[in-house]
Amino acid sequence: MNHIPDALYADREMTTWLIVGASRGIGLEFVKQLLLREERIIATVRETHALHASMLWGQAGGDHGRCQMFICDVLSEASIVSFVSQLAADPFLKIDYVVINAGVLRYPNRATELSFDEFAFHLHTNTIGPIITAQKLLQTNIPIGTIVFMSSDSGSAQNFLEREDGFAAYSASKAALNQMLRHMAAELKRKDDDTIILALHPGEVATDMSNISVPWQVEGIITPEQSVVAMIDVIQSKGIQHSGTFWTWQNQPYPW
Ligand SMILES: NC(=O)c1ccc[n+]([C@@H]2O[C@H](COP(=O)([O-])OP(=O)(O)OC[C@H]3O[C@@H](n4cnc5c(N)ncnc54)[C@H](OP(=O)(O)O)[C@@H]3O)[C@@H](O)[C@H]2O)c1
Repeated sequence: MNHIPDALYADREMTTWLIVGASRGIGLEFVKQLLLREERIIATVRETHALHASMLWGQAGGDHGRCQMFICDVLSEASIVSFVSQLAADPFLKIDYVVINAGVLRYPNRATELSFDEFAFHLHTNTIGPIITAQKLLQTNIPIGTIVFMSSDSGSAQNFLEREDGFAAYSASKAALNQMLRHMAAELKRKDDDTIILALHPGEVATDMSNISVPWQVEGIITPEQSVVAMIDVIQSKGIQHSGTFWTWQNQPYPW
């Protein structure tokens, strides 16, 4: 499971994607869509999914060795370091696109009610884990084209969604993610590092996360397939001049 076969990297012209958090929802859909596109994929799941995750790729008709699975739990620094060091052991690996998709929403999470631990859980999973995963990847010698963070319209400070009762810790964690990734982009620019850093809002996507009963009307719900097909195009349309910017699945710039 943790060895990258030489065959996977024999054709250096193939595009390689790394999807962090690929067991369900949007992350799993990335794997399916990329398999259909004949791309090469490194997908991570948590330990609990390791036994059956490779069967998930079969939903796209078999991976033909183009999808490799690794274990990464973004709540654990040791897990992140172990995962990244396994990738770094391959001197020929290059990654064109990294999608840091892992995230949680435990609804409701109101500022006036939630516990210390519930707040920390959202921050650790949605902010600290994703940023440290990117940081550890950037500290290797692996050439990386683009790192995409799965953010949310809930994380916009400027376009504050007052109706979103019960989303306080979630939106705060995505706002913090946004601010950290902007700093990451600015730091990389100062170092003349060409890795592109992007934030994406995937839309209102029908997944386990959004399968909650909220008292307001959620407009424009889309399928994971609609979201991911569009996001792949958004990601591939961006260059270094876009590093440190925030986009929707419909390729519209979104306010921080
Ligand atoms: N759905 C939406 O409408 C929507 C809107 C805006 C933003 N987003 C963002 O899009 C991303 C994907 O959401 P989704 O809707 O696909 O949610 P989902 O169906 O609940 O899937 C969440 C994914 O994140 C993984 N994950 C959670 N905690 C993790 C951890 N500690 N380490 C590694 N992986 C972990 C899950 O793995 P396990 O199976 O192991 O739990 C799962 O693969 C999230 O960042 C979310 O905030 C979603």
